[in-house]
Amino acid sequence: VDSLTTMPSGAGKISCLNAVVLGEALASEVDELVFPSHHFSSQALVPSPQKYLEIYQRSIDDPAGFWSDIASQFYWKQKWPQPAVSENLDVREGHVYIEWFKGGITNISYNCLDRNVEAGLGDKVAIYWEGNDLGSDATLTYSQLLQRVCQLANYLKDVGVKKGDAVVIYLPMLMELPIAMLACARIGAVHSVVFAGFSAESLAQRIVDCKPKAVITCNAVKRGSKPIHLKDIVDAALTGSAQQGVSVDVCLTYENQSAMMRESTKWQEGRDVWWQDVVPKYPTTCDVEWVDAEDPLFLLYTSGSTGKPKGVLHTTGGYMVYTATTFKYAFDYKPSDVYWCTADCGWITGHSYVTYGPMLNGASVLVYEGAPNYPDSGRCWDIVDKYKVTIFYTAPTLVRSLMREGDQYVTRYSRKSLRVLGSVGEPINPSAWRWYFNVVGDSRCPISDTWWQTETGGFLITPLPGAWPQKPGSATFPFFGVQPVIVDEKGVEIEGECSGYLCIKGSWPGAFRTLYGDHERYETTYFKPFPGYYFSGDGCSRDKDGYHWLTGRVDDVINVSGHRIGTAEVESALVSHPQCAEAAVVGVEHEVKGQGIYAFVTLVEGVPYSEELRKSLVLAVRQQIGAFAAPDKIHWAPGLPKTRSGKIMRRILRKIASRQLDELGDTSTLADPSVVDQLIELADH
Ligand code: WT7
Repeated sequence: VDSLTTMPSGAGKISCLNAVVLGEALASEVDELVFPSHHFSSQALVPSPQKYLEIYQRSIDDPAGFWSDIASQFYWKQKWPQPAVSENLDVREGHVYIEWFKGGITNISYNCLDRNVEAGLGDKVAIYWEGNDLGSDATLTYSQLLQRVCQLANYLKDVGVKKGDAVVIYLPMLMELPIAMLACARIGAVHSVVFAGFSAESLAQRIVDCKPKAVITCNAVKRGSKPIHLKDIVDAALTGSAQQGVSVDVCLTYENQSAMMRESTKWQEGRDVWWQDVVPKYPTTCDVEWVDAEDPLFLLYTSGSTGKPKGVLHTTGGYMVYTATTFKYAFDYKPSDVYWCTADCGWITGHSYVTYGPMLNGASVLVYEGAPNYPDSGRCWDIVDKYKVTIFYTAPTLVRSLMREGDQYVTRYSRKSLRVLGSVGEPINPSAWRWYFNVVGDSRCPISDTWWQTETGGFLITPLPGAWPQKPGSATFPFFGVQPVIVDEKGVEIEGECSGYLCIKGSWPGAFRTLYGDHERYETTYFKPFPGYYFSGDGCSRDKDGYHWLTGRVDDVINVSGHRIGTAEVESALVSHPQCAEAAVVGVEHEVKGQGIYAFVTLVEGVPYSEELRKSLVLAVRQQIGAFAAPDKIHWAPGLPKTRSGKIMRRILRKIASRQLDELGDTSTLADPSVVDQLIELADH
């Protein structure tokens, strides 16, 4: 408590930071406060609440000046004209748009690689790669990474990929994945990484939407001891997309020998090319394509409330400045750190905090190919010790699953190198937080519980580990330049201790600029629900000390193991099954995954329920979306609770799914209230 100070003058404007700066509020025993050690804070970039408040205040008073100062630390071929930001977030005043540093000319790949090499980091390790199998590993220095990126960039140019063209990347966590991203960025191509757990149909859907010039993949990958033939999935996707009128001329395929030899890979001459046969022949230097700060950097598809995935579009300059800065402060980055984020580059976390954010800081990044529990539940800590990892960033679902296996898998390893822990993807429950803090971090490492989204590009609410005392389960306070507001149903901002819908006032440089090909959906989904604000889709409460507590999605999106899945997508996969007439999907609490997928299914008239049918319904979802979206439970539903106008009442389904049967509420508005009793009766069939 004594490290806290009173609020500096003027900070009264920051309503979200009310009582926390007042020592007496913190002295109350109601909440558990976990302070960073004096040793940690004294060496931290932001060592105290007071320092945080000073910086935060400036970022809010003068966002353009604040972010311009930071942006100046990067290389710009040509500086942006003033003002640094131009935006309209209010749908009542016209179309929504956000522009940061527009007119500034730069390249993010240059800033990740060439700039660091020129600054003397050429021999520093950029990537430590750890393979799935014990003992398989490799490293690349910044100079070597630059050379590899240039070779691939030259190849892509040679096959006709130009600035603004899309390239789909479907790769597991090989070094070639960040290499491919950086090569696209180098030539101004727009990468769209598709997580290599998505099905052929999902991949085809994305290919049809963004019409890539090339697809980059590999023949196979080993998950645990089992090889998965990725190239077969890509072949099926390319056949599917061609049937929908989008054909791709080039499929560059990396031969991942540890999983499969090229001889056993199916091949289409003329379209398919082995990476190893062509890329190494190209020169190791490649001129940069200079792009505008507002030129697109990547597209990343994510789930929403309808069946069609949304192509979240991020641009170059603001994203660069924002990911670099959030990485640096939220993890209190030091040049000597070895950083490991367990996320796959197929998700936004892997974009912002495996590739761009860390490499813009010249960090040494660990990339791990395999599963976190292979060959056993100690693998993560084995890797931490092997590479002396200092910053470890993962999802609560992994923390919870390792916690279940027992402390012995953790304590068997030293973990002395660890300094900062991170959490992302879903709320971390206090008991998992405490286990992570006490057992994994030996009560020594602050936890950065970073709240953000695919759309936000980088962290919006996150602890700065040296600044604030933490409360287990709270993402704490906004990052610099971010103004979270909590609104009620009517969109009215609520002050002080409260809960409601989490919105953001104003823009930040890392914000997405549109949904690819559908700006109207962008405005409708994010800016129309609460005019004047960006709506996150999350519920949030703020306690008396101003700490933020995220409470999960309030829309039709489920968060399974930190993976975002739209209920509509799962429903559409289920109803595509010839014997399924109707489906309604809700999320239920799940001990390890956070949320599980619970599907109510009505069969076609006359079709009997069977275990076999259950399996084939689950299979339909695996095939259409991917294994990670497989329903945990199929609940046979002769009928679904609908209003007289035919709308499914999900509120009731959620209560039935979680067996909160005494909380069903009013069912009298249902067209046929008896379906509820029927469903309850069938609950455990
Ligand atoms: C949704 C965004 C952003 C990277 C991974 C997921 C949930 C994310 C937290 C957190 C509570 C969190 C939210 C958000 N979420 N981080 N620290 N605490 N909830 O990205 O797939 O775009 O999902 O994940 O519900 O809206 P995403």
